[in-house]
Amino acid sequence: MRFSKDEAERYLAIAASAARLGGRTLLELWGKLTDIREKSLAGDLVTEADHKSEECILLYLQEQCPDHSILSEETGLHEVAGSEFVWVVDPLDGTTNYTHQIPYTAVSIGLLYQGIPVAGIVYNPFLGEEFKAGFGLGTTLNGKIIRVSGTASLSKSVLATGFAYDRRENPDNNYAEFCYLTAHTQGVRRMGSAALDLAYVAAGRFDGFWERGLKIWDIAAGVILVREAGGVITSYENRDPILDSGRILASNGIIHDEMSRVLLSVPQEIEPILFKTQIPKE
Ligand code: IPD
Ligand code: CA
Ligand code: CA
Repeated sequence: MRFSKDEAERYLAIAASAARLGGRTLLELWGKLTDIREKSLAGDLVTEADHKSEECILLYLQEQCPDHSILSEETGLHEVAGSEFVWVVDPLDGTTNYTHQIPYTAVSIGLLYQGIPVAGIVYNPFLGEEFKAGFGLGTTLNGKIIRVSGTASLSKSVLATGFAYDRRENPDNNYAEFCYLTAHTQGVRRMGSAALDLAYVAAGRFDGFWERGLKIWDIAAGVILVREAGGVITSYENRDPILDSGRILASNGIIHDEMSRVLLSVPQEIEPILFKTQIPKE
């Protein structure tokens, strides 16, 4: 891939300005939402904050890079024919947290060149944390280089995960994996923003993260954050390409094989409890 560090730096600066515009919108609308709707699946929320953040991010990216395509969660693909670059935008990752005023939410912007993530930013305006990575530039948190953890085993790890919005209907709902890994690690966190979860893996706060049902805008920035911080990110099967696999496994690299083996072999015997339990009415 021909992609220079200078280009990475230039695009990263554009991504950072765009993310700050989105972040400003999220700060302005915090606690003032008047329009909270469900999308096609129960619990999958969208608000005016998602739309307004997206609008200002897209306007800025289109002005700075008119030759690049953009794929954004709420308005889909804005294609520029022949472009090798695609900006992938989640204008508000962690919408459920946002509606409940839980400040674990972020703007996530990744840039793909020929389908490969080459720059990414995950920005949490509430904690003032800006995680950035560019191809060959390393990963930074507010300008300081960060690295994945050195934790050597699953039993000494703290992990993170999430549950897709189809979890009520889909037996592949991650509950069994969650139970197993909760019992065999120092803990599993379910924080509510996949983009930030990946940024936390890059920062060494989490030793690993997994989730199924993720979309490209949840992870495009996180992929390069983890890779440039020395971590590994693959499908559950431990394979590339991962962007459209929907089953994402990220880690410090050391515990990766162990996590992959668990995710591929946990029995789903918890299902009868979830779907056949009768709770008496009073
Ligand atoms: C969601 C968050 C959440 C994850 C969901 C995502 P949204 O994104 O990243 O942590 O569990 O799968 O869809 O809907 O808040 O942008
Ligand atoms: Ca998201
Ligand atoms: Ca979103």
